[in-house]
Amino acid sequence: MSRILVTGSTEGLGRATAEALQAAGHRVVVHARNPERATALRPLLDRGAQAVTGDFAERDAVRRIAAELDDGEPLDAVVHNAGVWSGPDVMPVNIIAPYLLTALLPGPRRLVYLSSGSHFGGHPRLDGVDWRGRGAGSYADSKLFVTTLAAALARRRPEVRSNAVDPGWVPTRMGGPGAPDDLELGHRTQEWLAVADEPEVLTTGGYWYHRQVRDPHPAVHDEAFQERLLAALAAETGTPL
Ligand SMILES: NC(=O)c1ccc[n+]([C@@H]2O[C@H](COP(=O)([O-])OP(=O)(O)OC[C@H]3O[C@@H](n4cnc5c(N)ncnc54)[C@H](OP(=O)(O)O)[C@@H]3O)[C@@H](O)[C@H]2O)c1
Repeated sequence: MSRILVTGSTEGLGRATAEALQAAGHRVVVHARNPERATALRPLLDRGAQAVTGDFAERDAVRRIAAELDDGEPLDAVVHNAGVWSGPDVMPVNIIAPYLLTALLPGPRRLVYLSSGSHFGGHPRLDGVDWRGRGAGSYADSKLFVTTLAAALARRRPEVRSNAVDPGWVPTRMGGPGAPDDLELGHRTQEWLAVADEPEVLTTGGYWYHRQVRDPHPAVHDEAFQERLLAALAAETGTPL
């Protein structure tokens, strides 16, 4: 039995991931942006889940959650799922928050980052990125960055299994009702990477789609770009990896 944090678990893929892991007998830590949204987690809490709350657009909230989770009970895995499609929260939620949580919680041996096919449209440019979300952020860039973060961690921390997952275009609030991909398949890879012991799961640095490794944007495995990204995130947050 593993202890797994799933960020952004009030609905959509995060909710489905947390429910499936709990149903499989794992101890899940669920996450909501505030106490009002945490009411959506009631069924999971009633079945024994632990909850953390905090708005991932606010760095202090991410830091507080990391401190709360440093509670002497190790986390085995984190599924970095919380994400937004558009608006000023894109960079804070999609890349700054997972970076900070990763830097502040070095214990988990399995890290899963939600990527997207949209990352192929991202630009591997770091000059002028609006990390603080003063204006609308580029979703494609944020997903290129988080996919690169997953690969960089796999290289920097060989003892950790760090992978990125494209869940497909699935019918959640973000994906919309007409999304063509299978919602069930959209969360199975994250669960598998978080807990399974099959040999393929021991892969690290992969970009996955439906349990298959695919080639990501070429910048993802460019070590020079990885290092520039890590340096930019460390400088921006004041928190090195
Ligand atoms: N759906 C797709 O087709 C698709 C495709 C590719 C990648 N993805 C990725 O998959 C992940 C999950 O997406 P989804 O489709 O399940 O989206 P969703 O249904 O909109 O759910 C997003 C989750 O993230 C949480 N969240 C967003 N902003 C937050 C913030 N500031 N603080 C705390 N929590 C926050 C949401 O909380 P609230 O409920 O409080 O807003 C919700 O729990 C995202 O990273 C997304 O980029 C999705």
